[in-house]
Amino acid sequence: MALVPPKRRRGAGRGEEAGGAAAPSPAPLRFPGLTIYLAERHMGRSRRAFLTGLARAKGFRVDQAYSPEVTHVVMEGSSATEASGWLDRVLGASGSLPRPLLLDISWFTESMGQGKPVPVEGRHCLGVPLPTRSQADPGCLPAYACQRHSPLNHHNLCFTEALDTLAEAAGFEGSEGRFLSFRRAASVLKALPGPITSISQLRGLPHFGDHSSRIVQELLECGVSSEVERIKQSERYQTMKLFTHIFGVGVKTADKWYRDGLRSLADLQGQTRKLSRQQEAGICHFEDLNTLVWRHEAEAIQRVVEKAVRQVLPGATVTLTGGFRRGKLQGHDVDFLITHPVEGQEEGLLPKVMDLLESQGFVLYRHTQSNHYQDLKDPAQSTSLFDAYERCFSILRLPDPTAAFRPEAGEEPCRDGKAVRVDLVVAPASQFAFALLGWTGSQHFERELRRFSRAEKQLLLNSHGLYVPGKKESFPAASEEDIFRHLGLEYIAPEYRNA
Ligand code: UTP
Ligand code: MN
Repeated sequence: MALVPPKRRRGAGRGEEAGGAAAPSPAPLRFPGLTIYLAERHMGRSRRAFLTGLARAKGFRVDQAYSPEVTHVVMEGSSATEASGWLDRVLGASGSLPRPLLLDISWFTESMGQGKPVPVEGRHCLGVPLPTRSQADPGCLPAYACQRHSPLNHHNLCFTEALDTLAEAAGFEGSEGRFLSFRRAASVLKALPGPITSISQLRGLPHFGDHSSRIVQELLECGVSSEVERIKQSERYQTMKLFTHIFGVGVKTADKWYRDGLRSLADLQGQTRKLSRQQEAGICHFEDLNTLVWRHEAEAIQRVVEKAVRQVLPGATVTLTGGFRRGKLQGHDVDFLITHPVEGQEEGLLPKVMDLLESQGFVLYRHTQSNHYQDLKDPAQSTSLFDAYERCFSILRLPDPTAAFRPEAGEEPCRDGKAVRVDLVVAPASQFAFALLGWTGSQHFERELRRFSRAEKQLLLNSHGLYVPGKKESFPAASEEDIFRHLGLEYIAPEYRNA
């Protein structure tokens, strides 16, 4: 897909760009009379920059500031009421200015897909308030988590914590079936409009079997569940939890260590056994890595990463994904997705970015893998945890807010900063929407999206694309909305994917 005229594609060397413009030059304007303004609200700064670059490369005029020349205002995740409120405020002072079209992002993405402005249809318009959908009736709760709104703060925490503990314990024992039953039951409660106060409210809820119902009943009657308490007190659960909280240690390794009689970090350190480089780093920074990362800390890291990424590849964007994109205030790590509007420019970016961060003293551990999507025999079979993107699993030092933040090569400005797990993933523009959807989570929401695709639509979804089984070509998608639409699902905003 030629996003810029061919002349530029090869000609623009990195060195040249590093000292020059911050984004690839726009293509000549191809659609006179059409001026797009992308509203930043809900869209976010980096996504807006990304979409702006994409549209300009295709010959669209996109203005950074709103002016009377704007003909098409594009918003993402805004209700019609919010959109017209915004426009009224913008036009307020200027009375009789012509009103631009107020459009949903779907118009933009379809236009990008076709390389020209698609005719505006009713479904693109944010002019009239849409009927708001309510999931207030628990009797109507759909079966798949990707069909429900799961807010971050829900009404049934004491039940979901208990069920999630049982799921975790089942996972430690390798009981996939039990893990999923408890996980699904917990997820259903996260989507309820109010607290469960009587066991009769469970009637008709999807995925509520005898065992999960019994746990809820016990909690309602006694305030605690003896089964959950017993598990939490057990040596097995506590040790497995400790070991799996070490970076680089999964259930299999933890189980092996447990069966070998190991019980503590001291036991591990006292062993001559061979730990991987990753596990050694995990043990070395265990305390920091098991202290939750605050949103402002994630944002501080984002600034450092963005600066390095832009220095290496001007025009590239860095999006905060994972739990923070779902609105969490704290997380166990920080996940970033990097792309560039010109397909192919992003290749091989990470080793250079990591070298730069390392020279600035930010890197405590890094393990980079290159993109091997082309080597996959069947891209549709790539699983969630093992996508084929260029990726770096790292431990970075949090920039010290008290230090003057202008690290030069060789300096270590942040010697005392907290260690934070950071995942960096690089996706080409054409796969960005799938990577964003896949890396935003929650893990259960993703699992359910994939299950829904397979079981209800006979399609295979992963972080690279959406495929007809046996086919190598993915459906194209310029946004997450496109993917939900392909699947016939209502769009669920990231804040409601906390399933
Ligand atoms: P995380 O494990 O980082 O979870 O994966 P989270 O939702 O951000 O929560 P905390 O705060 O860090 O605990 C984020 C998303 O990225 C996907 C997962 O499926 C999840 O949806 N992911 C994670 C992958 O696709 N591959 C991976 O290797 C890791
Ligand atoms: Mn995360």
